[in-house]
Amino acid sequence: MKITCVLGSAKANGNSATLAKRFCGRAQELGAEVQTFLLNDLSYRGCQGCNACKTTHDRCVERDDLERVLDSIRECDVLVMASPVYFGSVTGQLKSFIDRTYSFLGPDFLVSEDASRLESGKKLVFIQTQAADAEDAFDDVFPKLRDFFRYYGFAESTLIRGCGIAGPGESAKREDLMKLADETAERLVA
Ligand SMILES: Cc1cc2nc3c(=O)[nH]c(=O)nc-3n(C[C@H](O)[C@H](O)[C@H](O)COP(=O)(O)O)c2cc1C
Repeated sequence: MKITCVLGSAKANGNSATLAKRFCGRAQELGAEVQTFLLNDLSYRGCQGCNACKTTHDRCVERDDLERVLDSIRECDVLVMASPVYFGSVTGQLKSFIDRTYSFLGPDFLVSEDASRLESGKKLVFIQTQAADAEDAFDDVFPKLRDFFRYYGFAESTLIRGCGIAGPGESAKREDLMKLADETAERLVA
């Protein structure tokens, strides 16, 4: 099993990355192969809206560090995306990356139910941390992503969300979240 892990926080050892690493670590123990990308270390632009991926090419024509992230997702069985909530959404780093996944859709995406260029059956794990502790605060972030990624063929999606996680090192102290990360890995890799 191949896992691609995309970290959206600037912090390689921040709260969201800590949960992602726990999931990936457990998955590796169970035999999965993991490729992790810290977006903040990469050089890339957001989608230019050139539509070359709908006209002349079957992939994004931008030649930058996201090429290998997008390639990795083409090959993976499970995609992990991790982000803190920034102003009610994912970080800019993650949003710019997600915009570039537009190239996974073929030219007929507006009229076809089956426009994804990805093989079907991939699974998505979304990891979200937020300072707000109310469960209903920012509970709209995951459903939107889940619906777009379902369009790409990610039929199954799992959310690992830590509310009330504000300061450094807080997610590591949340045994419930660590356990959920382990259990999710065990369920998906088994
Ligand atoms: C620029 C910025 C914007 C933020 N916006 C929100 C927000 O809208 N809602 C919230 O609950 N927390 C917000 N936070 C707090 C982070 O989501 C929280 O501290 C998170 O656990 C950090 O995760 P990380 O260590 O993986 O970066 C914000 C933090 C920063 C730096």
